[in-house]
Amino acid sequence: MTRSKMLDDVAAMHQRHVLTPWVAQGGRTPPMIVRGEGSYLYDDRGERYLDFSAGLVAVNLGHGHRAVADAIAEQAHRLAYAAPTFANDRRAELAQAISELSPWPHGARVFFTTGGGEANEDAIKFARSLTGRHKVMTAYRSFHGSAPGAGTLTGENRRWPNDPGIPGVVRFFAPFPYRSPFHTRDPAEETARAIDHLEEIVTYEGPDRIAALLIEPIVGSNGVIVFPDGYLARVRELCDRYGILLVFDEVMTGFGRTGEPFAAQRFNVTPDLFTFAKGVTSAYVPLGGVAVRESLATHFDERPLPSGHTFSGHPLAMAAGVATLRSYEEQRLFERAREIEDLLRARFDDLQRRHRVVGEARGTGAFFGLELVSDRAQRTPLVPWQGTRSLQHFFNDLLAHGLYVLGRYNVAIVAPPLVISNAEIDEAFEILDAALERLNA
Ligand SMILES: Cc1ncc(COP(=O)(O)O)c(C=O)c1O
Repeated sequence: MTRSKMLDDVAAMHQRHVLTPWVAQGGRTPPMIVRGEGSYLYDDRGERYLDFSAGLVAVNLGHGHRAVADAIAEQAHRLAYAAPTFANDRRAELAQAISELSPWPHGARVFFTTGGGEANEDAIKFARSLTGRHKVMTAYRSFHGSAPGAGTLTGENRRWPNDPGIPGVVRFFAPFPYRSPFHTRDPAEETARAIDHLEEIVTYEGPDRIAALLIEPIVGSNGVIVFPDGYLARVRELCDRYGILLVFDEVMTGFGRTGEPFAAQRFNVTPDLFTFAKGVTSAYVPLGGVAVRESLATHFDERPLPSGHTFSGHPLAMAAGVATLRSYEEQRLFERAREIEDLLRARFDDLQRRHRVVGEARGTGAFFGLELVSDRAQRTPLVPWQGTRSLQHFFNDLLAHGLYVLGRYNVAIVAPPLVISNAEIDEAFEILDAALERLNA
């Protein structure tokens, strides 16, 4: 059999047997990715793609990282699995490392899950147990996972397959300066109105019935929305006033993405719990978790923890996490995210000057959203958010020219591996620039 026939057979096998998340299954021909190295992915035909979104905003260390791969292999040989009720050396090390990175002076205790959605579900269970209250508040234009619990916490159309969902979830609008739900273009006014709106909802729901407010400190897959200054701090004050626990979903923002260990430190706002996944192992092994600040975690000293999973604290994931966090430190990648921020901002400013289709480029750290519009003055999205049209042709065009960018509706999500070099950033922007030119044409 010829090599190209063999490759076609594998593609057909994939199409025949694999269900791909969120998309209609017919007629797809994505590249068959078989290898990764640094900022690049390679397909079975030897084509390379610069991974400008770190997979799904996760592969912070880049691909093919030797130390992490070796740690996983070594762990697999020594101990692949022990029930979570046993203690485990790597689990202790990783929980301590996360506690040390946490924003709390007295540290944290950590419960491990297999992903971010599961972590959010567990976080709200913990919050309910901690407060004796039931309701949970989440924002519209948020994503917190897709299984029925986390899917109900989600504030956009990926929630709809879960409707009517789990009871007790109350939603609010968070600020979005570029497309204000509060009818203002002034960021300070946006914050003030958003807080008034939130407080009014809290009042109507009954403050002493609300266990937690769960929020992405930077909205991720709903457009990389950076809140105006002061918003998160005022949410913190409001939660304190009503005894509501503040939970940050740091699944995308955690582990250096914003130039600090967590967005909590970047914005100087301290939650009561936070959830994480993705960057904790740089996506080398599925892992998520909930960090609970020590003063709250003592609640579970006398009461059973209300959750558990077969794979909680799985040794392979623990080994991957320990090696990943060590590599972030050795390679000074959180600091590098700040440098990447400056480079991306300058490049995006330039793109915005030269392409009318760029409405806004916004971001913090190595985490940017490029919002594409058909009319800059009116801020008309190039395709409507949650509409039936997509810009898949644009994202496919980028891919055909060697650049992978995660896209949702009219927003391109740029979140490169933190190991990306300046030359690779140059390469990405050359490809982006040319594709925007073709999109404009
Ligand atoms: C902010 C946020 N929370 C939660 C999740 C869900 O994580 P997982 O897919 O690991 O369940 C995601 C996934 O992209 C996310 O972006």
